[in-house]
Amino acid sequence: MSATTEQIIEALRPVEDPELHRSIVDLGMVRDVNVTANGVSLTVVLTVPGCPLRNEIQNRVTNAVAPLAPGGNVSIDFGVMTDAERQNVRVMLNGDPSATAGSAQAHGHAEGRAIPFAAKDSKTKPLLISSGKGGVGKSSVTTNLAVALAARGHKVGIVDADIYGFSIPRMLGADRDPVVIDNMLLPPEAHGVRCISIGYFVPDGEAVIWRGPMLHKALEQFLTDVFWDEPDFLLIDMPPGTGDIALSLSQYLPKGEVYVVTTPQQAAQKVARLSAAMATKVGLPVKGIIENMSWFTGDDGKRYELFGSGGGAELAEELGVPLLGQLPLVQALREGGDDGKPIAAVAPESELGRAFHEIARKIAEDNKPRKKFLRALRVN
Ligand SMILES: Nc1ncnc2c1ncn2[C@@H]1O[C@H](COP(=O)(O)OP(=O)(O)OP(=O)(O)O)[C@@H](O)[C@H]1O
Ligand SMILES: [Mg+2]
Repeated sequence: MSATTEQIIEALRPVEDPELHRSIVDLGMVRDVNVTANGVSLTVVLTVPGCPLRNEIQNRVTNAVAPLAPGGNVSIDFGVMTDAERQNVRVMLNGDPSATAGSAQAHGHAEGRAIPFAAKDSKTKPLLISSGKGGVGKSSVTTNLAVALAARGHKVGIVDADIYGFSIPRMLGADRDPVVIDNMLLPPEAHGVRCISIGYFVPDGEAVIWRGPMLHKALEQFLTDVFWDEPDFLLIDMPPGTGDIALSLSQYLPKGEVYVVTTPQQAAQKVARLSAAMATKVGLPVKGIIENMSWFTGDDGKRYELFGSGGGAELAEELGVPLLGQLPLVQALREGGDDGKPIAAVAPESELGRAFHEIARKIAEDNKPRKKFLRALRVN
């Protein structure tokens, strides 16, 4: 006996849209299921024309339906949603902007929605990765830490807030442009991490020439108009320094915590003062120090401390927070950053890969939901 239409639909229910991470049945993407003696035919309506993941969807659908199809034959027609259908999908996934506009603190652009991460009941922990000065490895740490947190099963996003010096799409290997569904941006994803960056919106080789208000608007949109889908961790690759962007971000992300990346030689006092100043200015706590470029291991197996030693530990002591890890200098880190192959993903067992995973473990442990102690349930 051949399968019924309902059975085919049930078999398709667990199939997720690769970008939206929701059932294609629930999203209304499955139509015209027809079972005949010769096989199953159906239509899949894509959210946008030229959907870059069409082949992936085709494979998933075929694999789900083939076992039930007479002769294993599955024929799929592709269609595209209408504007009204897209709007439905956006509202279903990301809510109705007019419902929250102006009603909450830290709400987004005038006509827009509230910033979800500022809400009291937001379960997302924003991790702001910052440094006293540039070039110390903030972006490399952000990328690899995000990958390591995702590998632990967390839902993770990155906001590249380094508007002038964006580098996350390349480092993460998420260089496909974001798909837009009815003004909702779908963050490109790689190694289980979603990210958004100004890099997706400026033509290759051109510099960002935006000034203050546009930058803030862009950042706000990164938080409100991107479909983040309630990640556990949202990492922010901060621009260097203690500028305005840091200030706005802290208002947008009042539950954020700051992690400072430093190298071993930096005069701890100076960096401590800068980092502490930043934290005070933005009113967010510094939760840990990550020392980068700590040593280089030569072919002789000896550790060479090219940039001196002790900077991370000193800074940690100065600020009264833990030194979460020391990251060696490794050529493969830079190469992986240039090729979109983060070392935490491609070489998790290497010395540096392990160091990133260990820092991720500490941060994840620290942010485990605590058991609530309910006085009312106490039994004496
Ligand atoms: N541990 C390391 N081993 C080898 N190369 C590293 C290491 N950390 C960072 N690098 C390299 O140093 C350069 C600067 O690192 P990165 O871009 O992560 O720093 P940043 O603090 O984000 O810089 P910026 O202030 O310019 O944004 C990159 O080319 C990166 O690949
Ligand atoms: Mg950077």
